[in-house]
Amino acid sequence: MQQVTSPAEWFTVRWLDERLVIIDQRKLPEEEVYLSLDDLEDVFTAIRMLMVRGAPAIGIVAAWGMVVAAQGMSVTTIEQLLKGLEEAGRYLISARPTAVNLSWAVNRMLGAAREDGQQPSATIHSVIDRLHREAQAIQSEDEAASYAIGVHLLDLLGDSRNILTHCNAGQLATSRYGTALAPLYVGVERGMKFHVFVDETRPVLQGARLTAWELQRLGVEATLICDNMAASVMSAGKVNAVIVGADRITANGDVANKIGTLNVAILADHFHVPFYVAAPLSTIDLSIATGDEIPIEIRDKEEVISGMGRVIAPRDIDVYNPAFDVTPNEYVTAIVTEKGAALQPFTQSLREQFG
Ligand code: MRU
Repeated sequence: MQQVTSPAEWFTVRWLDERLVIIDQRKLPEEEVYLSLDDLEDVFTAIRMLMVRGAPAIGIVAAWGMVVAAQGMSVTTIEQLLKGLEEAGRYLISARPTAVNLSWAVNRMLGAAREDGQQPSATIHSVIDRLHREAQAIQSEDEAASYAIGVHLLDLLGDSRNILTHCNAGQLATSRYGTALAPLYVGVERGMKFHVFVDETRPVLQGARLTAWELQRLGVEATLICDNMAASVMSAGKVNAVIVGADRITANGDVANKIGTLNVAILADHFHVPFYVAAPLSTIDLSIATGDEIPIEIRDKEEVISGMGRVIAPRDIDVYNPAFDVTPNEYVTAIVTEKGAALQPFTQSLREQFG
């Protein structure tokens, strides 16, 4: 892992000069540092340590991580290469359990490698070449999906311009545009104006550190609030719509997303504010019936005990630190993917999106 020169225009993840480069999201908003991920261990660490985070971005980095892994293998046969890739894929998937985009991307890369490897003319070089093209396709498709989500959400929003969002589901969490923030990117292109309440999103502060930074760069008016202020701004009628991203959506429309999303969903229901979930199809996991089956990542107690640059709780206090919660589908007004808005009953509407 090495620091590389910062680009003129910021990006989340790119394959640049034959290297996988990411912005180090741990350092934002104070520093814009770009890192090259030079081997499989670097890619695993970057995902595990939240240098790159957000479901689609994790998937994209894992896809490029398979290219990095393949390039680093000393193998002499295609069989050895495929076996090595399977091991690398299992390792990457173990970095974080909740966002399904990670296993989705790894499995798509493995499928592409196997398909190329079966060709009579296949060589180690041709399989690696195919992996490279597949990772690029995953990244480009994610950008197109995010843009489409933005267009569909703008339609749903109508005249609503006062948004509340939780965590970061912006460009930092995707290839470009984001999911929950995509309508803002598309809207700004169209000369529209918005106001966004940004939940700070304890304990890791993706809202304060990342969404606030991103919206400032986009030129969208944003107000940072602590998570426990969302009820107050909603009760004052200052929010027309809540938009959040997702890490995994099950067949019945239950939504795993950043811890605290469920609080916001219940508040939105109470105050009759539409609650929109924005996610590409790669976040939908039809193999799981309900949210009860989603594996929820439990993170280190240190994230809760330390904050504001110092220890903020007794070191030996018991801490519960789930990184995600599950919002039952009854709180969800619409799930917006690149295919459009899926409405209740989600079991039917989500399946139709894959048709
Ligand atoms: O722990 P994180 O920062 O990876 O969690 C991110 C979220 O929960 C996002 O809302 C989700 O991945 C959607 S990103 C388009």
